Amino acid sequence: MKTSIPQLTKLSAWQALEAHFQKVKDLQLRKLFMDDPKRGESMTAEAIGIYFDYSKHRITNETIRLLLQLAEESGLRSRINAMFRGEKINVTENRAVLHVALRAPKGESILSDGEDVVLQVHAVLDKMAKFSLQVRDSGWKGHTGKPIKNIINIGIGGSDLGPVMAYEALRHYSQRELTFRFVSNIDGTDFAEATMDLDAEETLFIISSKTFTTLETMTNAHTARDWLLKTLKNPAAVAKHFVAVSTNSGEVAKFGIDTANMFEFWDWVGGRYSMDSAIGLSTMIAIGPENFRAMLDGFHQMDEHFRTAQFERNLPVLMGLLSLWYNNFFGVQTMAVLPYEQYLKRFPAYLQQLTMESNGKHVKLDGTKVDYQTGPIYWGEPGTNGQHSFYQMIHQGTKLIPCDFIGFVQPLNSLGRHHDLLLANMFAQAEALAFGKTSQEVLAECTPEWLLPHKTFEGNRPSSTILLERLTPEALGKLIALYEHSVFTQGVIWEIDSFDQWGVELGKALAERIIPELETGADLQLKHDSSTNNLIRRYKRSRELLNG
Ligand code: F6P
Repeated sequence: MKTSIPQLTKLSAWQALEAHFQKVKDLQLRKLFMDDPKRGESMTAEAIGIYFDYSKHRITNETIRLLLQLAEESGLRSRINAMFRGEKINVTENRAVLHVALRAPKGESILSDGEDVVLQVHAVLDKMAKFSLQVRDSGWKGHTGKPIKNIINIGIGGSDLGPVMAYEALRHYSQRELTFRFVSNIDGTDFAEATMDLDAEETLFIISSKTFTTLETMTNAHTARDWLLKTLKNPAAVAKHFVAVSTNSGEVAKFGIDTANMFEFWDWVGGRYSMDSAIGLSTMIAIGPENFRAMLDGFHQMDEHFRTAQFERNLPVLMGLLSLWYNNFFGVQTMAVLPYEQYLKRFPAYLQQLTMESNGKHVKLDGTKVDYQTGPIYWGEPGTNGQHSFYQMIHQGTKLIPCDFIGFVQPLNSLGRHHDLLLANMFAQAEALAFGKTSQEVLAECTPEWLLPHKTFEGNRPSSTILLERLTPEALGKLIALYEHSVFTQGVIWEIDSFDQWGVELGKALAERIIPELETGADLQLKHDSSTNNLIRRYKRSRELLNG
């Protein structure tokens, strides 16, 4: 994409931020809070039911002002508009980026290559709703006339992580008589364990793949067909036990799935932005069309907020800028995402693809190399489990790890004191990270002097707290879109293409080359490096010995 914006590090806001960083890098949160008793109220933003507290960050009002200026100077506003207008902002794949159209309400119009994609989206949603209701009401029967009880989504990456995360997140709203499983890994154990206790006559496979050529998914899909036919014997059974979600009707038909049972999506939906497209079919079957539409509404509310709100009140923009502040000025390498909500246990794994496949790039849109850091590593676990695992490092390690704490006011399973205890822990962790515990405070507890350094907490460790009312489908949609647009905000400023993923190609191609080398018994003239050659020979020799 041709852009008239000067190089990022030459922007006046960037240079001002560099100078500003030197002034504020050693500021202590303790002092900042002491100097401004209202900081915990003023450094917050609230929109569409999300309360965002960013006061426990190593920032001043001036930091925010300069970060906002950076967003403006980077052309963020026009890039947001370009995305929503359906311009081909995925430059290296020459594609529009229109996941926002997946949640646009009926009647809205967004054009891509002259076609109104919102109309297409709603036609597919209606088809998904009809099918989901049939499965949920036992109207969709298997080949032998038994109703479907088990749904297995076969997919990987964006065709798996979104569906698994959403199923887990919204399990509270799911039809409990139905069993949902997700098979992604090419490791046969994944399929074997998912199907071990299931009756083929009652099992439906959803083969989810944008391309319908992905090695893992197609291998698992063929294994699924063999597994089914072992019991049902008749290839005609495939029609009742397999549906597809894809952009590639040719490959779907080749596999033997009736394209009438294919749920379409489009090349303007990136894999990691597809969980609210037909890729969410398993989600819709689990929670029902009404709840699914409520989730889409949540996404849409955040889209509208992102598109229209002033940057200083714009949650995804603020979140993206804060992440950039640590990444590019403090040299931070990783960010922890810590949902204090058990149903969000797969949220960090989902975010890993969203953030790292999107912004793990070292080449800019114009093909030149960046001379600054791009996407940080995202990781995390639900609270309070993480507290008994890696929080030691966040509190006292040598690395600065900004955290996102995510909590809900109302629990979905109200059990005695549990929820207050959970939230008390979340608030306490953010407090402990920010303010630590001084050696004087430790000393006051009659701690022997030699233990002081061990029991002291430096504090000054930043975090955001994101608070919502209740984990509903709508709230989940808002939360995911918050991160989607925060990723976009950062990608725009770093001038990278957040919507391609060339970095996954080389490994795939090399695996294709090695597969026949492993599958033949012959001792081939291997042409890899000496390590790879040796590993292949070693594997084959050991396999022969072990297999007898
Ligand atoms: O790992 C790369 C990738 O292309 C992801 O971006 C995508 O979500 C995943 O593979 C699965 O692709 P598909 O849906 O085409 O099977």
